[in-house]
Amino acid sequence: MKTVVCPGSFDPVTNGHLDIIERAAALFDKVIVVVMVNASKTPLFTTEQRVDMLRRSTAHLENVTVDSYDGLLAAYARQQGATVIVKGLRALSDFEYEFQMALTNRQLNEELETVFLTATDDKMYLSSSLVKQVAAYGEDVSKFVPACILQDITEKFGKDG
Ligand code: PNS
Repeated sequence: MKTVVCPGSFDPVTNGHLDIIERAAALFDKVIVVVMVNASKTPLFTTEQRVDMLRRSTAHLENVTVDSYDGLLAAYARQQGATVIVKGLRALSDFEYEFQMALTNRQLNEELETVFLTATDDKMYLSSSLVKQVAAYGEDVSKFVPACILQDITEKFGKDG
């Protein structure tokens, strides 16, 4: 049974993330999507909100679970018995940072492999930051995020934006 971890900030989950999660779910037995709590970033959505949005967005995938973790990804993977990290690669600009993380994670946990799935061409440009920028100006983001989280975004900007 191959368990993989799909980590990220998911602030919020986008259709790009969902595409990678769906493809990971088709390739591996069990996928744990984990919202990593990053003390150096101030997210728009709380960890609980991000987990909830991911749970709703992945409800159709039987072998996917969603969790959160405050710590190092290498330690989390070990704790979960996962030896593979799955990440999406959008463009060359992602590569250097992802390469650095993959090598660091390997140093921290030598059993850990990082597998990169390339984003599909129609989702290459998508990012959570872009979604937040567009939504902050009251524009429609329904092309970019799962339909079930649209209201979370409009409510967030309606209340706080
Ligand atoms: O969606 P993001 O922000 O690109 O995801 C980055 C993330 C959360 C996967 C990365 O920052 C991470 O793994 N953070 C956990 C801390 C950690 O393990 N750092 C050491 C490896 S570089």
